[in-house]
Amino acid sequence: MEKTLRTNVAKLTGTIAVPGDKSISHRAAIFGALATGTTKIDHFLLADDCQQTLTALKQLGVPVQLSGDQVTIKGRGFKNLQHPNQPLNLGNSGTATRLLLGLLSKQSFAVELAGDQSLSKRPMARVTAPLRQMGANIAEPAAHLPLTIQANNRLQALDYRIPVASAQVKSALIFAALQADQVSHLTEIAPTRDHTERMLRQFGGVLDKDGLTLTITPQTQFKSQQLRVPGDLSSAAVFVLAATLVPNSQLRLQQVGLNNTRTGFLDVLSRMGANLRVENVHSAFEASGDLIVNTSDLNGTIIEGQEIANVIDELPLLALAATQAHGTTVIKDAAELRVKETDRIAAVATELSKLGAQIETKPDGLVIHGPTPLKPVTSDQLTTYGDHRIGLMLAVAALISNGTLTLTQAEAVNVSYPHFFADLQRVCH
Ligand code: S3P
Repeated sequence: MEKTLRTNVAKLTGTIAVPGDKSISHRAAIFGALATGTTKIDHFLLADDCQQTLTALKQLGVPVQLSGDQVTIKGRGFKNLQHPNQPLNLGNSGTATRLLLGLLSKQSFAVELAGDQSLSKRPMARVTAPLRQMGANIAEPAAHLPLTIQANNRLQALDYRIPVASAQVKSALIFAALQADQVSHLTEIAPTRDHTERMLRQFGGVLDKDGLTLTITPQTQFKSQQLRVPGDLSSAAVFVLAATLVPNSQLRLQQVGLNNTRTGFLDVLSRMGANLRVENVHSAFEASGDLIVNTSDLNGTIIEGQEIANVIDELPLLALAATQAHGTTVIKDAAELRVKETDRIAAVATELSKLGAQIETKPDGLVIHGPTPLKPVTSDQLTTYGDHRIGLMLAVAALISNGTLTLTQAEAVNVSYPHFFADLQRVCH
């Protein structure tokens, strides 16, 4: 789908309730399927990625019902999942794939996992290698989808230092460790989002954490829950940046998830000079609150080291922020961006350069010199590369660009934010 983007917008005002958090929605559905009893999840993200998880769970014999954005799941436990008649097609979703790889490593049946073109290129050995070490029956090299996990009735405990800062890898190994025959220890190289750990406890499980090390005791009994998924910080971030950059703006983003393993974007943008405030904080199993943002000037910054994992999905937005900031911004230690839904280092640089941004690519990041007024200089056609986060970032870039701009493969935004263009239209003046 090609979309004509709103450009040269005068101001953004109003209130938006962004859709439910993608990471939390995946996990709530999976724990609901593993629990005893009926789980009800409100404000579930009914976007393409989380729908893939729901479809996979249905294929595994789990009853799932939808009513508006409420999902009702009748849990079947680890041991009563059924052999799916067809391969599980996980579309574009890395999270669904990696979490299910861990979960399905000890089942009495074989399962094949497949995905779209982008997902089939993404690295899977980071999950399959440690799972094989535990005894999962996945034929080597197991580096990419499609993959088949053979039936297996035993997983050994794992003591493992996860060599990449990845919540998906950590979560896959937690789902496997829950089914192992002894206690496992997982150590991260940097803190990553802890939604799996929180969800596990919310469903009545136990897990110890000491610094960067998790101790996971085998357990397969979980209690069904009623919960509400907070708004997705990564979706809210799109509007936070938009209101920061478009002159004379003020937006309120209601009940956004404020888990501190996810709020690095707010810290970095505040450090750059953003005018942000948090109100109405609620602390449930995941904290949430309203974000109020007003337009402001920005300065360049350095984003590196352990901070990267906390802002990984927001780095395209922070790169755009940097094009409008005074001075140079350096993003480094972010080679993971090259193995997301597309190579986000290349995509950000190529697309923002079309609008005149001064961006250099590095193997592990970007160097951006600002501020640069944006307008089409080499092309008035932008592309998402089929990557939702690139599409959302470019829609914000357009708001502050002069001229006419179109976006190809614009439907990619549906992966995490189905009504994005309608929400944007409502607050644009
Ligand atoms: C996610 C973890 C991150 C993130 C992705 C969602 C999750 O991926 O980029 O959008 O829900 O666990 P990695 O674990 O590959 O860093």
